[in-house]
Amino acid sequence: MAVCGLSRNAQSGNLRAMKICRDLPSLRAACAGLRTSGRRLGLVPTMGALHDGHLALLAAARSAGADAVAASIFVNPLQFNANDDLARYPRDEDGDLTKLRDAGCDLVWLPPVEAMYPPGSASVIEVAGPSQGFEGDARPGHFRGVATVCAKLFLQTGADIAAFGEKDWQQLQVVTRMARDLDIPILIQPVPTMREADGLAMSSRNRFLNAEERATAPVLYQVMQAVARDITAGVAVMQVLAEGKSRLIAAGFAPDYLALVAAETLEPLKQKSAAPMRLLAAAKLGTVRLLDDMGVVG
Ligand code: PAF
Repeated sequence: MAVCGLSRNAQSGNLRAMKICRDLPSLRAACAGLRTSGRRLGLVPTMGALHDGHLALLAAARSAGADAVAASIFVNPLQFNANDDLARYPRDEDGDLTKLRDAGCDLVWLPPVEAMYPPGSASVIEVAGPSQGFEGDARPGHFRGVATVCAKLFLQTGADIAAFGEKDWQQLQVVTRMARDLDIPILIQPVPTMREADGLAMSSRNRFLNAEERATAPVLYQVMQAVARDITAGVAVMQVLAEGKSRLIAAGFAPDYLALVAAETLEPLKQKSAAPMRLLAAAKLGTVRLLDDMGVVG
């Protein structure tokens, strides 16, 4: 039985309907409907627990040329491993649907796990280069899961544009490379990180910070800004990175990495380069692992 429903924004009096699909035939039919007459479909892949950063992705997909925008909400078991906690991942379907409807989303894809990975599924996608190091080391198999689910989402929806946040820079590079290598006809649109007023990058996991950790969390951004400034000013890269790590430890973080890399390949850099550079950081604060990144001017 096909499962596809409509949700209307009653509160604002907006009668624009948002389709909600829970099985693949309904999704394909709904996406085909949105793509008629050369209309371009945007896709925002998410795992739910939506915040303003996700809503900015919807707006960015439209600005990049999408006539209609779909969002997927799927907590992808394939990208979790023993270091992550699938069961602990925040879920709020009703709240997410309200946010998406109010943001003008046209379609939500909410597949059950069996629809995404039917019994007997045996194919996965490995993206060698940009998956290696950093999150690839910290979370073995994570990017295999991300690449596989994103390829499936692109092919299931036939989307023309997919918006991804720069907050997960390595993921953005993995997905961009995967779409390019597999000739999937989709534009991957990078979207700048949305930050709280104090600079903390928005993330679904921020809700797990206690009050004290939340007060400390923006130090990660402050340290990264200082590191980026010093590198631009010409201070020796390895020295600046070591000092940045020490400042993080002094503030109460357990840094996993603070690294300067080539923006596209993620190759670690020991000195400044004329090509685009990115500063990547992952650090634990209590039980919460925070990720952040920023461009570095040469
Ligand atoms: O960034 C995320 O939320 C997930 O990794 C994604 C891209 C939705 C794939 O599951």
